[in-house]
Amino acid sequence: MLIQTKIMYVKKMICKFRSVLRVVVLFLLFVNVSACNLGLDFLAEDLLAALGPILASTSNIFGDIFKTHSIEEEDGPITPDLITECLKCGRELARSSKERGNKLVKNGINLEAYSPSLLHFFSPSYSADINNAVEVSHEILSSTKVLQTKLCACSDVTPNTFMAFLENQVIKVQDPTLGMPSTIICGNAKYRTTDGICNNERHPYWGRKGACFTRIANPKYGDGIYSMPLARSGRELPNPRTLSTRLFTDRCIPSRVFTHANMQWGQFITHDMVSKAMEVTDEGGIQCCLGDGQGVLPPEWLNDKCIPISVPDDDTFYRSYGIKCLNMVRSITAPREDCTLGPAEQMNAVTSFLDGSTIYGSDKKTSMKLRSKKNGKLRQVNKKDSCRGFLPSVDDKSASCDLRNSSEPCYVSGDLRVNQTPTLAMLHTLFLREHNRIADILSELNPLWSDEKLYQETRKIVIAEIQHITYQEWLPANLGESYVRYYRISPSSLYSRDYNEDVNPGIINSFGAAAFRFMHSVVPDTIMACPSGYNAAYLHRLSDHYFNPSILETSSEAFDDVVRGSVSHYSAEADPFVSGELTNLMFKSYNRWGLDLIATDIQRGRDHGLASYNDYREICGLRKARCFQDLAGEITQDRINALARLYECVDDIDLFVGGSLERDVQGSIFGHTFHCIVAEQFYRTRIGDRFFYDNGEMPHSFSSDQLKEIKKTSLARVICDNTDGVYYVQKKAFELESTYNPKYRCDDYEAIPYVDLTAWKKPILDLFD
Ligand code: HEM
Repeated sequence: MLIQTKIMYVKKMICKFRSVLRVVVLFLLFVNVSACNLGLDFLAEDLLAALGPILASTSNIFGDIFKTHSIEEEDGPITPDLITECLKCGRELARSSKERGNKLVKNGINLEAYSPSLLHFFSPSYSADINNAVEVSHEILSSTKVLQTKLCACSDVTPNTFMAFLENQVIKVQDPTLGMPSTIICGNAKYRTTDGICNNERHPYWGRKGACFTRIANPKYGDGIYSMPLARSGRELPNPRTLSTRLFTDRCIPSRVFTHANMQWGQFITHDMVSKAMEVTDEGGIQCCLGDGQGVLPPEWLNDKCIPISVPDDDTFYRSYGIKCLNMVRSITAPREDCTLGPAEQMNAVTSFLDGSTIYGSDKKTSMKLRSKKNGKLRQVNKKDSCRGFLPSVDDKSASCDLRNSSEPCYVSGDLRVNQTPTLAMLHTLFLREHNRIADILSELNPLWSDEKLYQETRKIVIAEIQHITYQEWLPANLGESYVRYYRISPSSLYSRDYNEDVNPGIINSFGAAAFRFMHSVVPDTIMACPSGYNAAYLHRLSDHYFNPSILETSSEAFDDVVRGSVSHYSAEADPFVSGELTNLMFKSYNRWGLDLIATDIQRGRDHGLASYNDYREICGLRKARCFQDLAGEITQDRINALARLYECVDDIDLFVGGSLERDVQGSIFGHTFHCIVAEQFYRTRIGDRFFYDNGEMPHSFSSDQLKEIKKTSLARVICDNTDGVYYVQKKAFELESTYNPKYRCDDYEAIPYVDLTAWKKPILDLFD
């Protein structure tokens, strides 16, 4: 066996020392195993039983669908015939697994209404294009597994060397049903598309809805393909619930700097850029626990997409309720852009760009449903006692919300998660109002503009405002002012000129499945409502309001009260303490217990095959630890001791766990490793977005007069302009009021500058551009 080594340099742009990633990939020339038959004895026996008749009767239809390329030698270990057989078998396995999942539901293994597990699904069904892509990815994964098992069973090929081989060999699946043409003509559009396609003219599918997350470290699955990772020793990794209770204690330490709105903006932009979705059956969400959570379902009833979290018997919280199992299901996967065989890649169900998709949706159908189709405005609901609009209602409230009675509101917006908390729905509402406010002004300035032109111009301005608030206000506050300017994560001159079409703006898997989730620690346990004058405060427990935004509408002042509360109330400190509202009571509905978000985060990182904390340390320029004590530069001694008690080996530490325990980088809320990943993501999100709001010298660029106006915007101004009775806000709404950050009157346009839209008034001839 000949092993070649190739060193692939993955550019690491933002890390403190601008270090370079080195990923070692082993290439392998296989020994001849052509004498080997396609043995199927490695398949689960129950699946084989179901497969037998199907396989026997299958004709050669797969030959047309699957085409293989670059196979080493005709008489080598991997022949076209072998690949075709594996693909055929993989497809049948995927189908059989799906059928089994549907049968389980039909036999009564499904989730109860109003259970925390059902609420966790947000939406138990997906559009046809997503379903289709998921199915194809299942087929590719099963085929990869079959090929691996076949080769590994018949030679001295190890699972890892097999994966390295696959990386070198391009074995593609060509599936006409995938619906993604390999070539696409983008045209010279003035506005970004809703689904993100054609933002990048050279790589039209980068950043689109439905794309795979990208990676900056090779995935680590148990079998190299899809199975849950194991410890280095081959044993199970530590229980996620145990890690959650031992390392992320239930405490809410108030931040001395940041407001609740700072946390809320973080989640709002998360939902703009990232949405993993969980596997479902044709009938809906998947159940993995017995009854109410009394235990994990026995194997014969367990869907193969289940990854339930076992609760230890001595759990101080769940023990009282007899809960031994928390439902958890694998994220949906997507075929790679080139449809090659290989390890699982998870799908981003929204566009990766920071493009207002929470307001406008990530596909044309959703965006059209949200439009009023008059004067460029979005649909809104008007209330008798409020001058401002509210989000429209979903068609089926009981499917999306957890309401006490049907008169309570349950909203529809561009993102399915809108109702998750009232303060999240509050931001959605503010930007719905901002859109309609701007559309009204533009329509007065340009009375002849069509609905479409008004909608697109307004959408462009609103997206620019969201990008500006994120890059000029939020990121400097959370990552460190000097850092984001020095490394050009946030641009500081009027126009940016560093758009780079070779930078993939896709979401980095470790950003969505670990690093940015660290901000779960800043979620406070209460939501505050402040009456006008800010002279009182009413606190609502977070867990009483999941998927129920009704506190925004209980009176004519209620919405403004919650807005005032969000800029007056603190967020929690960024540290490894997390409120029990999230770790014991998430989505509890009428129950006395809910899910554990931190255990979910840890399990999700494993589900996505994220490389270990130690791998990411190296990627981010730190020394790889050889023993627990090597972590001392970044992690305090008591936490190192706790890690050493829980993990067998320093290489086993989950990225989410290790990254969350690091001391924060000066001026930032993140530790070194998460800082590096988060900064990398926001850099890519900016320079990989052709339509980024301050890109200059492009056909769609704002004029300098327009851009100067956009750059005056702030969250404080958006609040002032879109509430009835909020008269004072501190200039930096993400930071608590202080002598350095006092409240100003909303009509003090010097302190809280106003975005004047007269620069958008166009001569009549511009009507048709
Ligand atoms: C009350 C506040 C919040 C709640 C209840 C909440 C809840 C959740 C839930 C249920 C998930 C999906 C877990 C899974 O199945 O893997 C999730 C994912 C995530 N959350 Fe939060 N979260 C909150 C706030 C935040 C904040 C403030 C941030 C960041 C600033 C954040 C960042 C993320 C990220 C990056 C993901 C992954 C998104 C995806 O892949 O779909 N969350 N959160």
